[in-house]
Amino acid sequence: MNAIPTPDHLVWTTPSPVSNATITNGHVDVNWMDGKSHRFHPFWLRDNCACSDCLHQGTREQLLDIRQVPLDIVALSVSRDDEGAVKVCFSDGHESRFHPGWLWFHAEQSWALAPLESIYWTQSSLTEPPSFDGPSAMSDDAVMHEALTAFEQHGILRLRRMPTERGTVESFALSLGPVRETQFERVFNVISLADADSNAYTSDALSGHVDLPTWEATPGIQILHCLENSVEGGESVMIDGFAIAAHLKNNEPEIFEILTTVCWSHSSRKLDTGYRWRAPIVEMGPAGEFANIRLAAFSRDPLQVDSALVDASYRALRRFLDLMEDSRFRMVYPFAPGDLVMFDNRRVMHGRNAYDLNSGNRHLQGIYLDRDSARAKRRVIEQQQLRRSISEVQAK
Ligand SMILES: [Fe+2]
Repeated sequence: MNAIPTPDHLVWTTPSPVSNATITNGHVDVNWMDGKSHRFHPFWLRDNCACSDCLHQGTREQLLDIRQVPLDIVALSVSRDDEGAVKVCFSDGHESRFHPGWLWFHAEQSWALAPLESIYWTQSSLTEPPSFDGPSAMSDDAVMHEALTAFEQHGILRLRRMPTERGTVESFALSLGPVRETQFERVFNVISLADADSNAYTSDALSGHVDLPTWEATPGIQILHCLENSVEGGESVMIDGFAIAAHLKNNEPEIFEILTTVCWSHSSRKLDTGYRWRAPIVEMGPAGEFANIRLAAFSRDPLQVDSALVDASYRALRRFLDLMEDSRFRMVYPFAPGDLVMFDNRRVMHGRNAYDLNSGNRHLQGIYLDRDSARAKRRVIEQQQLRRSISEVQAK
């Protein structure tokens, strides 16, 4: 717990100590030793007061009703106290103490604990998934942190030498967070079946796709764990949909425009399910970032757009599919028993080469999670590491 309260349970540090703090037109200017300075709005500061009147000290949830704070509130004075807090007296008579590390983080970043930025990859920049030793990742938080960071940046991760027992994929998934259940089995077996209800359960080649674009909230993470693989063929194919989107945005803006605006519907074809959702192939986030790729060509519904858009819509779809087949965007690698591959199912499109059923056995187990769980686990490990390093410094 911080000696200086923050409106959360987190540990915050500054890269540089506070040099001084001053008031300009009722706003608070904090100047740091490294020469940087940040201006804080008085209403924003008042909103984030962490005193016991404004914040429940146990839950760290707000008690303050923000409507009680006058909109024209100003900071009247600012000082540093003995513990290093930035102490502000407001025109509504309230006094608040702010943790410098918390202030620095929230001023420096548009969203203090934002997801990590994506690193788009192509065949030339990433020939196989970023790989880590599975048992080490499971027993050493530092390795797991490195692995989850690589996952968040690249949308794909491989843990090698995992046990080849059934159910390993579920226990691994649960170490990150709750399983996302769907109309498929909680843990699904990717083997070829005589009465397959999905192309995945045949030995045919599978073109790149995301799973379950038929759901409004398409599962953010898919994990495939290889128990057995002695067949000829069946290599995994992964395609960074964000890399294709970026390529189109930069080089073919008319195609990109259609991909981000025209909605396609996907529906599950199984008789007793009614899952269906309609959205653009490339969905953008609020800051103009790529949020989701939603495309499984084999479960697309008939296009329903104004007739003037039909040509352009098909042209854009075909261009995206062409680039998915372009070797520059394809990562192709074999599955070895014990490999566990986790990928962002709303970014990285997966497929496989056909395999020869008579050449051996191939058995993968799969499961879905939400993106949130991988990010949350990374943040929890970061906080634990930070707490450890602070207590080590204090012990010296
Ligand atoms: Fe799939």
